[in-house]
Amino acid sequence: MSDVELQNWWQPFTNVRGFRQNPRLIDRAEGCFLYTPDGREILDITAGLWCANLGHGRREVADAVHKQLIQMDFCPPFQFGSPVTFKFAQKLVEYAPEGLSRVFFTNSGSESVDTAMKIATHYQRARGKASKTRFIARERGYHGVNVGSTSLQGIANNRKGFPTLDTVDFLPDMLDIPNSAFSRGLPERGEDKADVLEKIIAFRGADNICAVIVEPIVGAGGMVPPPKNYLKKLRQICDQHDILLIFDEVVTGFGRTGSAFAAVEFGVTPDLMTTAKAINGGTVPMGGVFIKEEIQQTIFDAAATGGPEIFHGNTYAGAPVAAAAGLAAFEIYEREGLLTRASGSIGDYWENALHSLRDIPHLIDIRNYGLLGAITFAPNTSKYPTGVGVPVHNKCFENGLLCRAVVDNMVMSPPLTISEQEIDLFIERLRKSIADVLG
Ligand SMILES: Cc1ncc(COP(=O)(O)O)c(C=O)c1O
Repeated sequence: MSDVELQNWWQPFTNVRGFRQNPRLIDRAEGCFLYTPDGREILDITAGLWCANLGHGRREVADAVHKQLIQMDFCPPFQFGSPVTFKFAQKLVEYAPEGLSRVFFTNSGSESVDTAMKIATHYQRARGKASKTRFIARERGYHGVNVGSTSLQGIANNRKGFPTLDTVDFLPDMLDIPNSAFSRGLPERGEDKADVLEKIIAFRGADNICAVIVEPIVGAGGMVPPPKNYLKKLRQICDQHDILLIFDEVVTGFGRTGSAFAAVEFGVTPDLMTTAKAINGGTVPMGGVFIKEEIQQTIFDAAATGGPEIFHGNTYAGAPVAAAAGLAAFEIYEREGLLTRASGSIGDYWENALHSLRDIPHLIDIRNYGLLGAITFAPNTSKYPTGVGVPVHNKCFENGLLCRAVVDNMVMSPPLTISEQEIDLFIERLRKSIADVLG
């Protein structure tokens, strides 16, 4: 494409000036592979952006979208509702952690997080606890880009210079390479990092705290699994102090961990749960907040009769086309056993393949859980001031592999359909790319 053709779209989270020099265009996708316009094959080890959990190019989803567009392209969700959306909410709830039987649809993870913040504060007010307005998030957390979700961001670059709420405190980062390097699955050590929650509560006062929000496994910040018992501890402390617990499952939802949701996988039930991305296989923008029934009931009981129980929502929330894609995606999730596939032999194969990289001298950590993975390079700030990840990522793309770089980390989240042969190909291309860059 010419310079002129490239200048109008300002891409998100992109070095646009660099992109224009060396455009990386992709225009076809199938299974675990992406294809450039000149036909080069790229192994997609990120499932798009943690969303194409079914693999790319699923005909059934495309057909369902097409059919829905013909039957009814749009239905206003304010005061009306399409049967297909109610049906999809019912399907989702079959897999939700116990009690989270209400779904508020959104269009993205960011909107899900802001929606959860609003529902949580509404709930506190509805039960006479209006002073509970503060949130507690975690360093390294990624929760999205709206003003609410930006305020919860634990990644400095994503909040610096933007408007943010000043009512958020942060738990410490869970990544602890000195103590937990090369852990397989959940690290044995580090449960005590949850104790900081007690300190924040003592400092701010439980009467002022609405909710704690964490990703059960850190995704975009570098893929960090929680230490054993850490999430249970957060749950206990929240219960003890009457604080809501929100899991942001935008990455961990829909089979990524080996269960439908990380909450189910780890046996810890949050009060609200935010989702998006793979909700319909990453095909049509959609997100959803799962809510405990009693939270909804409390809000309903306190609301004036005749009007909306919450003055919140989006034009495309629960759009029939997105819901139809979701129902078709779930037929595939169910038929192919994808929501639990990562807990089977492919998860073991993935873990062993990742840890086979341990002989590479530049690596100081390898982490995995379900079909998630990360490696960390020893920092080299004189040569790579913004991290070793980006040059390796660039080389990976040249070598036919799409991974994500996060400073000195590379993170991976392949489609849940990935085969052993494709995992082998991933390891081969990653190894070569690291050697090409670092020797
Ligand atoms: C855990 C988490 N929450 C929220 C978001 C924001 O989602 P979106 O980009 O769909 O707004 C993301 C995106 O990566 C995420 O990983």
